[in-house]
Parts: sequence; C-alpha cells; structure tokens
Amino acid sequence: MSDRTMTRQVLLFISVLSLSSVKGQVSYSIPEEMAKGSLVGNIAQDLGLDIKRLKSGKARIYTGDSAEYIELNKERGVLLIKERVDREALCGQTTPCALDFQISLENPMELYPVTVEITDINDNAPSFKKAERRVEISESAVIGSKFVLEKAVDPDIGLNSLQTYSLKPTDNFILKLHSQADGSKKVEMVLQKPLDREKHEHMSLLLTALDGGKPQMSGTMQIHVTVLDANDNAPVFTKTIYTATITENSQKGTVVTTVSASDADKGTNGEVSYLISNSMDSGSELFHINADGDLILDGPIDYEKARNYQIDIEAIDNGGLSDSSKIIIDVIDVNDNSALINLISKSGSIPEDSRLYTVIAMMSVNDPDSENNGKVHCGINENVPFTIKSTSNAFYSLVTDSDLDRERASEYNISVTCSDEGVPSLSSSVTLTLQISDVNDNAPVFERSSYEAYIIENNTPGLSIFTVKARDADWNQNARVSYILEDSSVNGVPVSSYVSVSADSGVIHAVRSFDYEQIKDFQFRVKAQDGGSPPLSSNVTVKIMIQDQNDNAPQVLYPVQTSSSLVAEMVPRSADVGYLVTKVVAVDVDSGQNAWLSYKLQKATDRALFEVGLQNGEIRTIRQVNDKDVVKQRLTVVVEDNGQPSRSATVNVNVAVADSFPEVLSEFTDFTHDKEYNDNLTFYLVLALAVVSFLFITCLVVIMSVKIYRWRQSRILYHSNLPVIPYYPPRYADTLGTGTLQHVYNYEVCRTTDSRKSDCQFARPCSQNVLIMDPSSTGTMQRMQREQNILDEPDSPIEWKTILQADTTLM
Ligand SMILES: *[C@@H]1O[C@H](CO)[C@@H](O)[C@H](O)[C@H]1NC(C)=O
Ligand SMILES: *[C@@H]1O[C@H](CO)[C@@H](O)[C@H](O)[C@H]1NC(C)=O
Repeated sequence: MSDRTMTRQVLLFISVLSLSSVKGQVSYSIPEEMAKGSLVGNIAQDLGLDIKRLKSGKARIYTGDSAEYIELNKERGVLLIKERVDREALCGQTTPCALDFQISLENPMELYPVTVEITDINDNAPSFKKAERRVEISESAVIGSKFVLEKAVDPDIGLNSLQTYSLKPTDNFILKLHSQADGSKKVEMVLQKPLDREKHEHMSLLLTALDGGKPQMSGTMQIHVTVLDANDNAPVFTKTIYTATITENSQKGTVVTTVSASDADKGTNGEVSYLISNSMDSGSELFHINADGDLILDGPIDYEKARNYQIDIEAIDNGGLSDSSKIIIDVIDVNDNSALINLISKSGSIPEDSRLYTVIAMMSVNDPDSENNGKVHCGINENVPFTIKSTSNAFYSLVTDSDLDRERASEYNISVTCSDEGVPSLSSSVTLTLQISDVNDNAPVFERSSYEAYIIENNTPGLSIFTVKARDADWNQNARVSYILEDSSVNGVPVSSYVSVSADSGVIHAVRSFDYEQIKDFQFRVKAQDGGSPPLSSNVTVKIMIQDQNDNAPQVLYPVQTSSSLVAEMVPRSADVGYLVTKVVAVDVDSGQNAWLSYKLQKATDRALFEVGLQNGEIRTIRQVNDKDVVKQRLTVVVEDNGQPSRSATVNVNVAVADSFPEVLSEFTDFTHDKEYNDNLTFYLVLALAVVSFLFITCLVVIMSVKIYRWRQSRILYHSNLPVIPYYPPRYADTLGTGTLQHVYNYEVCRTTDSRKSDCQFARPCSQNVLIMDPSSTGTMQRMQREQNILDEPDSPIEWKTILQADTTLM
C-alpha cells in the first residue's frame, strides 16, 4: 500500500504540472502492474470539467488502434485501470514508457490528450535459460582454466535489472565477470584449485544472478561439474608383503593366495593387471598370477627342494603406472619321503669267532622331511644275533650282540627298517645278507665211539675191511677229514703192517693176509684230522676180529704116519670086546666147527673087528678076537672136521693081532714085504735111511730146542705154564661133549711156527714123543706102551703136563 500511496503522490504532482503548463493536457504517472480498477487519476477534476459535462458530453477514451489499458469512469470522473499494464511488455527496455490517448467530449466536441506514464517496478527476477548445466572437466585441467557460463536475463530496467552474479561453493572455482560494451556482463568460472576425481568426482555449483531491486530478486542455475579421470594414480597393492603357505605336492592349479592392487583411477586408467617380475628365481616359474590377482600353482612343489619362495609381483594399469609387492610362500612339509638308507660300508661275511659287538655294517639314514616327518628310528628283524646302534645323528651301525656259530646258522638275512614319525609313518628297509665264515672250531667226530670189524682169515692182501667215518661240522677245508692210522704195535709188529687206512675215504685195508691161527684180533687207533689250521682231530679205537676159516685139515698126531708105516698096535688075542686098541689123536688148528673133528673108519682088513669112536677116535674091538684073525690088520681112519667144506685127513693104523712081539715082527716083515718092499735089500736100505733120518732130526730138534729156549726167555706170551712144545690138546674128550674147543690151546700149538708151511716142521717136533718104529729096538716099544697108557687116560691136564715134561726131558 505504501507503493500505491507513493504512486498517487507522483501522479498528482504530474497533473498539477500539466495543468499549469499545457492547457487541456493531463499527464499521470502510474507504476505497472496495478490491479484492475485501480485509480489512475481524477480526470474530471484535472481537466476542470463537471461530472455532468462528462455525462452529457458522452466522454470517452480514444486510443486509436492501441489496446485500452485504461477506462473512464464517468460517474466519478476518474480513470481506472482496465487491463493490467506490464511495462516490460509494453515498452521493453525503452524509457520512459507512456500510454497516450485522448478523452473526447461531444456537445461541444472537445478533445483532451492524456498521457499516462508507466513506471517500472521490480517485478522480474533475473532468470537463466536453463535451470542447470552439466560441465565435464578433466581432473588434469590446469589452474586458471576458464569456463564460460550463461548469462541471466532480467527484463526489468535500471536498478531492477540484473546487477551481479555469485557462485557457490568457491572451493575449486571462482567467478569472474567481465563488463562488456553493451553493459552486459560476461560470466566466467575460473579453476583456482586442481580437481581430483578421486576425491570429488561430481561437484554441484550454484550460480546466482541478482538484480538491484528492492526487494532484490535472483535467479539461479545449477552447474553440475563432472571431473573426468586422468591416469594420475598408480595401482597400489594392499600389502607390501603377502605371506602364504602351501602344502607340498599340492595340485596344479591350486590358488595359493590372492593379491590385489587398487588403482584410484577410473575406467581403463584404473584397470590393473598383475605379473610376476622376478624371473631369476626358479620359483617364479612354478606360479603364475591371473588377472584377478590369484597366484596359481603351475608346477610341483617339493618341500625338500625349496622351503619357501619369494615372488616379486607387479601391478600395472593401462597407463603404465605400476606398483610392486612381494609374496612369501612357505611350503608346508608333507610326509612324502621315507627314510633313505645309505650303506656306508658292509661286510659280506665275518668269521664265526668274531668278537661281540663286531661292526658288520654302517649306514647313514636320511629323511628329507622336516620335524617329525623326518625323525627316523631304525630297527632290525628279530631272532638274529645282531643289534643296531645309533652312533650319532643319522648314523647307525649294525653289530653282533651274541656269539655266532656257522654250524648253527651260516647265513643271516638282516633287514634294517627305518621309519619316520610322520602320520602315517613311512618306512623303508634294506636287507643285508651276511655270511658267517667258517673257523675250524669243530673236531671231526667219528660216527661211533669204537668200531669192531670182522674179517675172514686168508683174505687177499689189500682187501678193504670196512670204513670208518668221521664228520666235521665245519666247512670246506676245515671239514675235510683225513684218516690217519696211529702208530702202535700188535705183537711187536707195527700195526701198519697189518692194516692201512685210506686217508681220504677212511677205508681200512688189510695189508696182509690174516691167519686166524696166528692172531684172532687186534686193535688200533685211527685218527681223524681235519684240514683246518691248526687242525683238530679225534681218534677212535678199531678192533679187528679175524674169523676162522676152515683152512686147516685135521692133523693126525697119533699114530704117526711114517713112510715105513711100521708102527703097529698090538692086540692080544685074548682081548675082549671093546678092547681099546689105540686112539687116533688128531688136532685141527682151526677153531669152532672147523676144529670139531669126527672119526670114521674108512677101510679095514676086517670091518667086523674094529670100530672107531666117532668123536673120540678110539679104536676098539667089537667082537672077540679069535685065532682066525690075521695078525696084520690095517685100518684107515678118516678124520674130518666140521667146517664147510670140511677137510679131512686119513690115517692108516696098523694093528697086529698077536700075543708076542716076534710073531708080530715076522708078520710085519712079511707085511712090508707083501706090501711095498718085496726086496729085503730095499728094506734095509730104507731102514738105514730111517736111522740117518733119525739122527738128522735129532740134531735138528736139539738146535731148535736151543733156539726156542732163547726165544721163550726173551718173550713170554700168554701167561701159560704150558711148555710150547710138544702139544697135546687138553680136555680133548670134553670138547667132544660140548662142541667147544678152547681156542687158547689150539692157538698155542702154533705159537712155535710162523706159517702153515711150518706145520710140517711142527709135526716133527711133536712127534718126538711118538715112537719111530724100529723093529730092532725093544726100548722104543716100551715107550710105545707107555704112550698107549697115556692115550687111555687123556682127561687129566695135570697128567698131560707131567707126561709132556717128561717128553721134553727126553729130547
Ligand atoms: C636270505 O635271503 C635269500 C634271498 O632272498 C634266501 O635265498 C635265503 O634263503 C635267505 N637266508 C636265510 C637264512 O633266510
Ligand atoms: C685219542 O682220544 C683220546 C680221547 O678220546 C685222547 O685222550 C687221546 O689223547 C687221543 N690219542 C691221541 C694219540 O691223539
């Protein structure tokens, strides 16, 4: 209302002014934008006209062809606003701005010009064409860069028109206005502080245009600044060092770790790629890094080769800016290695007498794994006399821990097993084969503690008797047994002349032919000696028993067979039945059955007269002798032993059946004459020869007796009181009953001689107690009688002895 009041005052002033200077011209001044019906001026009064005149004169406003903004109220005689008046529309920027019209009256017709000046009011705010604007500015824009802004428009004039601008905020930009020739202003925005997209990518500025009216009015425009990115940031890794772990033997393609670098830039400037930069390290070939920063395993990871890897990595953006970092990868051990057993030294064989704790092998054991996976314990199989010792870290020695005996076990397989403490534990093993070499610690042992062997006499020299065998538990040379006959003597003769032993085979050979009648058994020692050094030996007693063979025919001791066969037994004609004519005495130097003699009558002049005792050789009459019996009776007795085959001897027994010697003699002269020597001359020659022979034999016996005496002096064998010669088998009759002969005596018979050949010689000395028939000698006949007595009572050894002694003295 104060505005309106002021306008009215101005109007009044102008009216007064126009009334005074221009007759009939009225001017008013009103502000624009007055409401319809508002009073412009009291025209009646100002023109000095009566209201009646207005009415009668039909006063009206004439504007020509201009629009009517003003109307005339005739009742009141005032001008009122008919249409709202906009100065800016009416005049634009032209000043002053006025409405010119006339008020016309009739009766009389009068014309009064009226001018209404329109004054400006601040009814327009400055305005921008667009409410906002978008601007893109690179963050790399330099300070001072100018950006022209739009001007604002304010249709008001004067102070009411646009006066100034402001820009907010003013962090990066300030506003700079340049007055231009037309009075308008050029608006510029100037960069005064660098932009950083990374800090503020978008900024919103408000540009305000202000006029000078009261009240002041303004218009605004929003300026949206988008900061365009420039590659002004390098990528930056999130860590300067990355650490990661990987278990060994991980699969290819395992993602070890993920690194990341950030680039503050945008778009391609912010796109980061990764690469492994250190190509010197072999580890870098095991990995690659992908676009996402994943470090991926490419090859085998072996803790035993490398326990960690250091990989230099680089992140690079498209602009070539980069950053570097490092990945340290620790490899985690997996128990993937079993212990490695390395034999440093080993002996393939040791002698069985090796001392306790002899080292047989040394080894180093190594497990490349770490910690428990690499802690190794070694052991060996049980039941072997060895033990394993850890000498120092990772070194072991295998030693003996009890005595060895090759004869018990000559070879050992020792398996050494080493296992680590990993879970699950891994182990490895080696097997050593150890030979136990032989030491000569066993003597040969004979299979038996003593041997007895039999050999039948009359063997061929060189015959193998039997074999001794000794075994030696040792090996090879130490077990090579040689057999050695130990020196000893048998009956004064070195045993080596009886037997020999084959050194290699232990076969015992007879060196000579044995004669049971000379030696029945003997013993010796055989030594078995091995080939060791020093050699060991043992010995065994071998007893050889010689077995009798029926190699001797019975020997007839009585009656003595001479070439002259002039020995005869006398049987008186008065002899009764069972008269003992004589007894055939025979011996057999063999023994046992071979010496069991039986007697048989083979031939007889008169078979009905005599019989021979089968076992005792006694010739007895079996009937009464009568006169018809011839004087000369001749019996042939066969003495047979019981050997297989049996041997026999025959003896001719001449029996004279007569009462007197001359009768016999005459008969026997005939007898001989009849028989073989018909010629007397021949008989005498024979007789002479017999005498010479007798003398010769006597001499021989003397010489031999002396020799035998000396021999007996030097060597008395077999504690027997019996003289050596001559001999009669004692208890001869008894043996017939038992079938057993006393070998000793049989043997003794032969002590005098050395060989069977000398048995003949034996016969002669033995025959010393037997008469050699001399028909001319009665003395000898008497002795013969005595012999008969002896033969009748053969049972008493004592008697035998005395008789024999007596005979010996005869010699
Ligand atoms: C040792 O091993 C070998 C070969 O495997 C075998 O022939 C031999 O009989 C074994 N010896 C022992 C004493 O086990
Ligand atoms: C024979 O062996 C026995 C033990 O069996 C021994 O006492 C003796 O000395 C040995 N003889 C020889 C000659 O070696």
